[in-house]
Amino acid sequence: MTFAGKLLAIASTLTLISLLALGFGAPAFAEDLSDNETCMECHEDADRAPPSNPDMPQVHNPAGGFFVEDHDMWSCTDCHTYITEIPHAEEVGDMEVDCTNCHDETPTK
Ligand code: HEC
Ligand code: HEC
Ligand code: HEC
Repeated sequence: MTFAGKLLAIASTLTLISLLALGFGAPAFAEDLSDNETCMECHEDADRAPPSNPDMPQVHNPAGGFFVEDHDMWSCTDCHTYITEIPHAEEVGDMEVDCTNCHDETPTK
């Protein structure tokens, strides 16, 4: 898929999710997982370890924010797609972000 195609796919998924949420009336979640503020309530002061794969560029700047400005506009869960509930499922510590959800290839250093 092209980069634009993937953006479109993400956008339509999000639209579908919001339509579903509207359709069922009452909010399904007490907390909005797509709102970065929700995540920052607990992750603001967390250490930002480098990626486990040494060939991958680090995404989070340990000083705060992201190394690549273009990553600012996304929800945390656009990358951390496996975060679907709070508290999280036990295996989230073993999960990795799939860069190819947005990039044609996994970026390397
Ligand atoms: C109520 C506090 C709380 C909130 C809110 C929260 N988290 Fe977490 N998160 C934790 C804790 C505690 C851990 C470590 C224990 C665990 O793995 O469950 C964790 C672990 C993680 C990890 C795995 C870290 C690792 O070890 O690799 C990721 C990624 C993550 N959270 C992302 C998010 C995202 C994205 C959101 C917002 C949708 C979010 N969290 C909201 C408390 C929270
Ligand atoms: C562009 C993709 C992307 C976005 C957006 C993103 N993350 Fe991450 N996150 C990663 C990657 C990749 C890692 C692995 C370490 C690295 O490369 O920085 C990671 C690591 C983490 C960890 C593990 C802690 C550690 O450093 O060991 C937590 C917690 C986390 N992210 C929370 C968040 C929260 C909260 C947000 C939203 C403010 C967020 N992430 C947005 C890609 C992303
Ligand atoms: C939710 C979408 C999304 C995800 C997932 C994502 N990125 Fe990005 N990233 C972007 C966008 C948009 C840009 C700016 C346009 C471009 O350069 O492709 C960008 C640009 C970059 C850049 C700077 C430009 C370049 O290609 O050199 C790097 C480096 C990068 N991302 C690394 C990563 C890594 C590593 C991961 C996986 C851990 C990742 N990204 C996951 C959306 C994303």
